[in-house]
Amino acid sequence: MKSSQTSREILRTVGVSKEYPGVKALSNVDFDLLSGEVHILLGENGAGKSTFTQIVAGAVHNDNGEIYLDRKKVNIKSCLHAQELGVGMVFQESHLLPLLTVAENIFCGHEPLKKGEKGPIDWNYMREKSAELLGKLGYTIDVNTKVGQLNLVERRMVEFAKALSQNCKVMILDEPTASLSAKETEQLFTVIRELKKQNVGIIYISHRLDEVKRIGDRVTVFRNGAKIKTLRVADTDTDELIELMVGRKMESIYPWEERQIGETVMKVEGFTHPKYFQNISFSLHRGEILGICGLKGSGKSEILRAIFGDLKISDGKMEIAGKMVTIHTPSQAIQNKMAYVPADRRREGLNLNFDIVKNTTIASMKKFTVWGLLSDKKELAAAQQYKEQLQIKTPTVKKMVRQLSGGNQQKVVLAKWLSSDAQIIIFEEPTNGIDVGAKFEFHQLIMELAKSGTAVILMSSDLPELVGMSDRVLVMKEGSIVGRLEHAELTQEKVLQYAT
Ligand SMILES: Nc1ncnc2c1ncn2[C@@H]1O[C@H](COP(=O)(O)OP(=O)(O)OP(=O)(O)O)[C@@H](O)[C@H]1O
Ligand SMILES: [Mg+2]
Repeated sequence: MKSSQTSREILRTVGVSKEYPGVKALSNVDFDLLSGEVHILLGENGAGKSTFTQIVAGAVHNDNGEIYLDRKKVNIKSCLHAQELGVGMVFQESHLLPLLTVAENIFCGHEPLKKGEKGPIDWNYMREKSAELLGKLGYTIDVNTKVGQLNLVERRMVEFAKALSQNCKVMILDEPTASLSAKETEQLFTVIRELKKQNVGIIYISHRLDEVKRIGDRVTVFRNGAKIKTLRVADTDTDELIELMVGRKMESIYPWEERQIGETVMKVEGFTHPKYFQNISFSLHRGEILGICGLKGSGKSEILRAIFGDLKISDGKMEIAGKMVTIHTPSQAIQNKMAYVPADRRREGLNLNFDIVKNTTIASMKKFTVWGLLSDKKELAAAQQYKEQLQIKTPTVKKMVRQLSGGNQQKVVLAKWLSSDAQIIIFEEPTNGIDVGAKFEFHQLIMELAKSGTAVILMSSDLPELVGMSDRVLVMKEGSIVGRLEHAELTQEKVLQYAT
């Protein structure tokens, strides 16, 4: 934090509360933010972090309480109003318009005009400035591209650029690094440090606890909609923060066990794609957890998509259970008992307008039939079981997924695939945005799957998770496998050495 002479209070909330039907999302939150500080919000999924920041950013209205900006009481009416007051936010879920270009999205709502206030929109300035802002984030994207054509990480970058373009006093980042790799995270931190120097106050929500020490000045913990405590980062540690979040002591260990790995279930040989990867060969065994990692551009996601028939290869062969197979489409992969849980789950993993029960069972309907008919009772029991195991925070499993917090939506995706009877499951960034307690449960569930013979491919940029859970790790770089590490020799440092 800057010295106390120069930092001043820029935001204060007093007694902020919010209720949704049947859920007290926030109760009586007192909070303050200083200029030039990074104030981290922590809490389990559903604790109220997004709701609280959405209120400050004008996207949600509070039922009670007061908000002060620069010590002046304000009544924030909308996102646009919040922006005018100097509050910008990068939301947990994308707020971009897919049919508009990158530049149009960045300046949507505050388009620069020629000749001051009156002229037509200054398109050239808009495009140049957009490219410049993205450049600051270490990104070059053609600013004339439609946002709908971008991948998850690129869309994130456009959202950061959009927030930066508003020159705000208060910047809110809701799980900004959830889909970013180590290098992109570093780039974002550089930008955050620069914003701090310009005296911007930053509210930063994350489930990656290592980030607290790296970027935070103060930290506030939420539990069940209430503020539990605000601490200086220098005065606390991870164990204390976990205890404050979950309300009890918890050991952060991985449930990995030494065990007998079975026969080969999948053999990939010489997979090549003209753009993304060359000559990739590896095998996967029954009951094995195979980690895959690499930086952006290493080809790690593309190779998984190719295996699943979602990306066409120019050369290569694949065997499943000893038989040569050709997989050209995801549905052929599914017929071969494969499942793929992509990182971009809102796009590809959930039906937001269905309830939790349907979303849980949709990938494995057969399991839930009796005499060929779908059994409500069986479906309900399965959803109920995962609700408890993964601690999905909801009054009932009949709730529409749209109404769950971001992390609880992710848990439903995991439930869906954990309950499928696939023999090979590919998880891409499975615990992104998931709180510590549920992470631990999920790791246990994966371990149980592996013990019962399922082969798991785990692609994760959460290095402690990758190292803690994998039997073997393949490290990719520039389209090739550059390192193969066994569990006994796995360390985060080694993985990074190969990856960079
Ligand atoms: N639109 C909505 N309708 C009904 N309930 C909602 C709605 N939005 C949020 N909630 C509920 O409010 C509570 C707080 O949710 P919030 O999204 O603020 O949690 P969070 O701390 O951001 O969690 P996460 O880490 O999972 O993102 C949750 O119980 C959630 O189900
Ligand atoms: Mg949230």
